[in-house]
Amino acid sequence: MQTITSTSIPGLKLHSRGKVRDTYDLGNSLLMVATDRLSAFDVVFNEGIPKKGAVLTQLTLFWLQKLSNIIPNHLITAEVPKGLPDWLKHRSMVVKKAEIFPLECVVRGYLAGSGWKEYQKSQSVCGISLPAGLQNASKLPTPIFTPSTKASVGHDINVTGKEAEKIIGSMDMFNQLQDYTLRLYSAASEYAQTRGIILADTKFEFGFSEGKIILADEALTPDSSRYWPADKYSPGKEQESFDKQFVRNYLESIGWNKTPPPPKLPDDVIAKTTEKYVQAYEKITGKKFEFE
Ligand SMILES: Nc1ncnc2c1ncn2[C@@H]1O[C@H](COP(=O)(O)OP(=O)(O)O)[C@@H](O)[C@H]1O
Ligand SMILES: [Mg+2]
Repeated sequence: MQTITSTSIPGLKLHSRGKVRDTYDLGNSLLMVATDRLSAFDVVFNEGIPKKGAVLTQLTLFWLQKLSNIIPNHLITAEVPKGLPDWLKHRSMVVKKAEIFPLECVVRGYLAGSGWKEYQKSQSVCGISLPAGLQNASKLPTPIFTPSTKASVGHDINVTGKEAEKIIGSMDMFNQLQDYTLRLYSAASEYAQTRGIILADTKFEFGFSEGKIILADEALTPDSSRYWPADKYSPGKEQESFDKQFVRNYLESIGWNKTPPPPKLPDDVIAKTTEKYVQAYEKITGKKFEFE
């Protein structure tokens, strides 16, 4: 099946190329295009994942709409502007150009990934002390805000509240980002629960536009979130998941050192990854995935 891993649009100026999304300048707005690129452990793979770009965009649209009562967001329209190529359909959206806060607003309701690693060493996550006796995938007493910096190259770095405040420059702004992050997580995890899914953690990016804070970037996709099936949840081990964990596990299993160049992904791993992304969309939205 066809994948799109690199883009160029005649007549449009590229605004930025991220690990997954290519963004084009439309003047006051941006065209955000989700490609089928896969990044894992912050390394981008050569093979595309069929349907991935459309899953990311459609899930983002679903969540932006659902959460718009909590915070305004950057979406202008999901329609492809007239005169632009057809392949943009389902994978792109026109958004307000925002000044993105240089902070990945991470929120965790459960102990997993780097949080679990840090907890084992210091009984804390991003400097926040936690009760003793928690296990891998334990639910936290209350969701915690654990921001990290947007590293321009390589892995994101967890920062303490104090450092994050310094990065944002204003304590009031920092508090607002924290507050929005926790409220969005609470609403999203409550909804996910009704679909039989645990939202273990996620990451938001906020921007500043027309004098106010808005929710930008992707929202609550399998790339930015850990989703676990609630009926299989049992702390004390790695959880099965609807997110990118499947690829991460494969990469761990072959002993890759997580630095470029990326290994070649076998066809069956690619197919299974597509299946996981589509499954995430269908589980979360309760709708059939009918996009190409
Ligand atoms: N409304 C917006 N205005 C400006 N930049 C945005 C907006 N929404 C998202 N972005 C930026 O667009 C890029 C999206 O591409 P992505 O592949 O996710 O990049 P990254 O490799 O940084 O994760 C990110 O750098 C993100 O901060
Ligand atoms: Mg990103």
